[in-house]
Amino acid sequence: MTEARTDSLFKEDPLSPPEPCDARFDPALDAWVLSRHSDVVAAFRKTRLWPASPQGRKPPKTPDAAAQERIRAEIQTISASRLSHWRGRLEAQACEMAAGLAGNRSIDLVGELADPWCLAAAEVVVESSEADRERLLAHARVVSDSAAEPLDEDLQSRATLAGKQLEKILATSAIPMPGATFVALSRTLSRLLANGWLALLRHPGQLASLRARPDLVPRAVEEIFRLAGIPQSLFRHAGDDLEVNGLRIARGQRVVLMLASANRDRAQFADPDRFDLHRNCAGSVSLGLGPHSCVGGSLIRMAAAVATRAFADRFAEAEINCPIEWSGGSGFRSASSLWVTGRSR
Ligand code: HEM
Repeated sequence: MTEARTDSLFKEDPLSPPEPCDARFDPALDAWVLSRHSDVVAAFRKTRLWPASPQGRKPPKTPDAAAQERIRAEIQTISASRLSHWRGRLEAQACEMAAGLAGNRSIDLVGELADPWCLAAAEVVVESSEADRERLLAHARVVSDSAAEPLDEDLQSRATLAGKQLEKILATSAIPMPGATFVALSRTLSRLLANGWLALLRHPGQLASLRARPDLVPRAVEEIFRLAGIPQSLFRHAGDDLEVNGLRIARGQRVVLMLASANRDRAQFADPDRFDLHRNCAGSVSLGLGPHSCVGGSLIRMAAAVATRAFADRFAEAEINCPIEWSGGSGFRSASSLWVTGRSR
């Protein structure tokens, strides 16, 4: 499979994904492509559709259900009181960083706010020391770049090593999966915020409402996940002959779930390209669904809410002043910088 072929599924701007359409078999990918919301949701619920790598045709190992349950259960032990303790520290840092950005100049919201704040958030949660910062960040970049470019084999093998190094450096952390959590907070969250804040800046009326009504921040975060979510697609492998919404999939066949397209399906979300703070986002598939859904959801929602509140409070009147450049590949794609002219409140 070539990068170009898989890339044919995507548009350059991840905030404008391909329109959902009927399920089809893509011979170049040798996979079924599902993009309608109802098809993607039905596929998520099939336990015999196993998560698979987009690379190669080798079937994935039969999932170890007990190990998966153990990991899920461990992460779910992160208590509400711990989340609330982290929230307090993250809020203070977000306000301080946002306030520290001078008003009358061009500001890159990714490089000067999202990236440094997300790194600080990762350090608070995994309790890593400043002395380890550069090493951790270097490994996290490799893991995150490989998630963005899942077809780059060299990057994939470097990411496996980097992931092990992260877990080793963070072996004494009090939280489960500290390496993966460090990557998710320091890198993936920053990409999500870059896309989400861009979506909000493209809807200035909604951004102004958000500043006026901070109680709407949790809704804004759900809308960011739906409209500007990071994973563009996920791959699955059929462990059995099965049927998804009337579509017959044979054992051994591959399936691509087009998350960003499903999140724009007008059969599920009215006027789907509009950022709407009052929308009911139930059914958004950005964090997966069913047996493999994201277990870091509460942590990532809390962190995205804290950062987005600080952003809205300080940059509700900002204007984008540079064309957007995208980074990443067929896995994740996000705005690599977000230059605005920031007016102080
Ligand atoms: C912006 C950040 C994040 C995004 C976009 C994200 C997205 C996702 C998605 C789409 C899935 C579903 C994968 C599939 O169905 O194949 C998933 C699963 C998962 N996520 Fe996240 N996630 C994020 C943060 C986190 C964090 C912070 C943690 C850990 C604390 C985490 C732990 C997991 C685990 C363990 C699974 C696999 C669950 C399973 O297979 O049972 N994620 N994530």
